[in-house]
Amino acid sequence: MKILLLGSGGREHALAWKIAQSKQVDKLYIAPGNAGTADSGENVPLKATDFPALRQFALDKQVDMIVVGPEDPLVQGIYDYFHDDPATAHIAVIGPTKSGARLEGSKDFAKQFMLRHGIPTARHLSVTADTIDQGLAFLETLPAPYVLKADGLCAGKGVLILPTLDEAKRELREMLGGMFGGASATVVIEEFLSGIECSVFVLTDGLHYKVLPVAKDYKRIGEGDQGLNTGGMGSVTPVPFADETFMQKVRTRIIEPTIHGLREEGIVYKGFIFLGLINVQGEPMVIEYNVRMGDPETESVMLRIKSDLVDLLQGVAHGDLDTRQLEEDPRTAACVMLVSGGYPEAYEKGKPMTGLSEAAATGSILFHAGTALDQEGRTVTNGGRVIAVCSYGATKEEALQRSYQAASLISFDKKYCRRDIGFDL
Ligand code: AMP
Ligand code: GLY
Repeated sequence: MKILLLGSGGREHALAWKIAQSKQVDKLYIAPGNAGTADSGENVPLKATDFPALRQFALDKQVDMIVVGPEDPLVQGIYDYFHDDPATAHIAVIGPTKSGARLEGSKDFAKQFMLRHGIPTARHLSVTADTIDQGLAFLETLPAPYVLKADGLCAGKGVLILPTLDEAKRELREMLGGMFGGASATVVIEEFLSGIECSVFVLTDGLHYKVLPVAKDYKRIGEGDQGLNTGGMGSVTPVPFADETFMQKVRTRIIEPTIHGLREEGIVYKGFIFLGLINVQGEPMVIEYNVRMGDPETESVMLRIKSDLVDLLQGVAHGDLDTRQLEEDPRTAACVMLVSGGYPEAYEKGKPMTGLSEAAATGSILFHAGTALDQEGRTVTNGGRVIAVCSYGATKEEALQRSYQAASLISFDKKYCRRDIGFDL
């Protein structure tokens, strides 16, 4: 079969790497891809949100399946775009309908959905400029710190955690005043939950589901989870606290009510559900839903899927996911992200990179996030997050030690990585 994968980051390189291993795949295209995905398939210079161009390409190349990496195309309705057109209805799009993608595209919708289906999550109130007084009053009932979330997509920047009531009130006014444009016209005010987070990935055909290896990501730029938020500095799987007792609660209290709730509301959902969970004294609560895989969790999770991912995706498309096998690799996988100095603030691009083949020769797997080929064909940096160095190990320590060893062989000007990935597990 022929698959078109959408996206251009480390997540998509990891997906491309795994998809390309399938015997069922004759051809893999990645739109737009990056310097790394070109090793697993053919990059196509099309934007993941340019639906008419993707449609034409898919028809010309007789693509059978579209796997969507990032959230934007899903929130903009790529599933419906292909499904509702008789010429493309036969192409399986792995991902939810536009209606299902509201689980990520609208934090207010996600909270209401959880409330309707009794799914454990933080207490909240959604407010607009017209109801700001209720919001200010609600803040007064909460203990510090205060969580404010822009309703719409903000490229991961829409959540503020404020230490004092005064700051929370000021930021609430700013957000409703257009701080994130239309995305913060509605703001979700939430009770702060304390605990340790993990990422649970579910693949569903709308009726059956499989739980992929559980991972933990590290979002802050600084060690000890300090400093600014980033797109993700590393990940580890498995997560020891996500043991059988915890996961049984996750299945019965969160995953099954979510899938059942979607069906009950008539929402077609055939794709990945990413549960951002927090473990509050042994009880899983939902921090957020995403409608795609996580980045950089995918970079380690793909290492731990032994089965053919494409067979599982076929199960999603055909509605017989229950008949497909998901076998996990028992080893630990760890991912360390090398980033450009200055990231997530200003940083320079175009720095020549050396040592990539030496690093790969150690057995570690390199997933490109932000790289490009310059005019002489050399690999250069082309983003804040540059490359994910991923390794297996019998233990977390061993996997990380291998990733750090391989990472030390890669050089580029102002290279930075966190040295403490996995520190809290
Ligand atoms: P989100 O974009 O919803 O994932 O939020 C970004 C991050 O903010 C999460 O990964 C959490 O670390 C934190 N966060 C969000 N909501 C809460 C909450 N209710 N309590 C504590 N931390 C939260
Ligand atoms: N790693 C978190 C995310 O992909 O949103």
